[in-house]
Amino acid sequence: MPIVPTQEILGRAFRDGYGVAAINIVNDLTLDAVLAAAEEMRAPLIVQTSVKTVKMEGAEVLIGMWRELTRSITVPVAIHLDHCPDRAVISECLALGWSSVLFDASKLSVEENRVQCIEVVAEARRYGAAVEGEIEGIQGVEDGIGSDDASQQQTLEIALDFIRSTGIDCFAPAIGNAHGMYTTTPTLDSQRVTDIVAAEPIPIALHGGTGMTSDQFADLISRGCAKVNISTALKVAFMQSGYDYMTEHPGQYDPPALFRAQRAAVVEMARDHIGRFGSAGRAW
Ligand code: 13P
Repeated sequence: MPIVPTQEILGRAFRDGYGVAAINIVNDLTLDAVLAAAEEMRAPLIVQTSVKTVKMEGAEVLIGMWRELTRSITVPVAIHLDHCPDRAVISECLALGWSSVLFDASKLSVEENRVQCIEVVAEARRYGAAVEGEIEGIQGVEDGIGSDDASQQQTLEIALDFIRSTGIDCFAPAIGNAHGMYTTTPTLDSQRVTDIVAAEPIPIALHGGTGMTSDQFADLISRGCAKVNISTALKVAFMQSGYDYMTEHPGQYDPPALFRAQRAAVVEMARDHIGRFGSAGRAW
């Protein structure tokens, strides 16, 4: 199977009421680990790349890794460019074969965001790719993009008008969620997801997944959050396992042994989230 359009992965999840893990990877090891978890769980998966990761690895190297590591995959997977305000990076990734992009113009006025988003949707369609849109910055800084200021929610009418007039495939509303670590369990405006979906049945992207409870995931997924973003949890698993390994094996400088420990931690993290989103066993 293999690489499947993001629209198809999200369309099925939205229709059947489960959430697809959309996990930000940072290199080949973490990409390989999340793919292994999806394969093991027989779950569809969206692999996400931040602009920072694209710039660090280089878009061509990253898509090369993706093609190579998905060559024998048997569950549906897609590759998504997360929060990208830069149209040049969007064009580069679409041309190279990314399945979907999040055009993050939340710093612009809704009107300017709409005008540019319509152009991004038209560009993506030429490649059969999908577009996620947002009109409210999700609180917190994700790989250098975003702000710690509280998000300003737009009205339901403005959100619906944006969804309808741009033709986006997935919408990311601000519902009290935030990127990074929550200091306390967040209070989420889940009714907003229900209100949007009731008026316009579109898969919703749930940002800021790290640290939400299993009950919060289940509730939001049942309301239409078909795409569940996880980034910080992967960074923690990857880096903490490396630190722990070196602490437990002082003076042992054996990169493959270190990488095995890190890979195992990332696989475990991905398995845990996939298991909580109801997508295990949903591969087709
Ligand atoms: P976390 O870093 O909180 O998991 O959020 C991920 C995210 O929403 C990526 O866009």
